[in-house]
Amino acid sequence: MLLALARSRRVVFVGGKGGVGKTSVSAALALARARDGARVLLVSTDPAHSLGHIWDARLGDEPVRVLTHGDGCVDAVELDPHATIEAHFATVAGTMTAMLPERLHPAARQHLEQAKTAPGSHESAVLERIATLIESHLDSHDLIVVDTAPSGHTLRLLALPEQLTSWTESLLASRDRSERFAAAARSLVGRGDEPAPADAQLRRTLIARRDRFALLRGLVTDPARTAFVVVGIAERLPVAESVEVVRQLGELGIDPAAVVVNRRSPADAGALLAARREQEERHLQRLREATAGIPLTQIPLLPVDLAGSEALAMLADHLA
Ligand SMILES: Nc1ncnc2c1ncn2[C@@H]1O[C@H](COP(=O)(O)OP(=O)(O)OP(=O)(O)O)[C@@H](O)[C@H]1O
Ligand SMILES: [Mg+2]
Repeated sequence: MLLALARSRRVVFVGGKGGVGKTSVSAALALARARDGARVLLVSTDPAHSLGHIWDARLGDEPVRVLTHGDGCVDAVELDPHATIEAHFATVAGTMTAMLPERLHPAARQHLEQAKTAPGSHESAVLERIATLIESHLDSHDLIVVDTAPSGHTLRLLALPEQLTSWTESLLASRDRSERFAAAARSLVGRGDEPAPADAQLRRTLIARRDRFALLRGLVTDPARTAFVVVGIAERLPVAESVEVVRQLGELGIDPAAVVVNRRSPADAGALLAARREQEERHLQRLREATAGIPLTQIPLLPVDLAGSEALAMLADHLA
């Protein structure tokens, strides 16, 4: 069921609370699609580097091929939030320096240093990197799977394109006004009306950034191209958390395409696990009621650690 979903979309976001199996499900989904012959880009924003562990590969900011299967492949990226935020702020600093008169540079630098630690900066930096990755790999890859960090961040991540787009818009509008003013001033003193090269460069940067976020926002909210999958487990608190994620996504205008209940206890492997399964059934019932209308996929508790293609294939079998 999850596999059918991934076959019909270009981007799949996998979200949910900590430790429920987001990275495992993302990797298994990527593997399953690669075995279909699809070219998959798997992006992790998880600071724990578990994706590299799963594929036994050293991953980083640029895609590394972790699996080839006929025509299909999985290229994986593990974003380092710290490096991403540093790179992001270096770019923003460059933009600000180009925009502001020199006497304001020290103040701008100080402001940026503070902004680095402000709530949301981490997310906006990571989001910008995800947007860039999606933008640059939509043509080369059939599917992009985004394994997101625990849900609070993810949700803010999805709300951000809107905010960032409007921020860039207003920056561009004010640039337009000042550019027209500068051009008028230049023509008055007879120095032609060619904009300075730095201005043109800056405009291009801002427009590219705006377009990137607009693309991401359009993509993320288009159910024909993007699916959001909420992963959880059948325990009291995790179910409440899954329900909350679904509600918050709804507020952002995103309908989750699937809810996954991972690590279901087996009914036929002893009294203890059978009793747990009974217990899970009750929590599952509450989840079903709260997410009525959203397809629910269950994945059994597997006997192995989910690392390596073989273990992932076991998980992938349950996604079909
Ligand atoms: N169905 C399963 N059966 C057995 N073990 C599982 C199953 N799904 C996941 N695991 C194991 O549970 C642990 C957590 O899984 P995973 O790292 O995928 O969760 P996560 O949601 O990505 O966690 P985090 O929020 O820390 O990123 C891992 O050790 C993984 O091997
Ligand atoms: Mg993870």
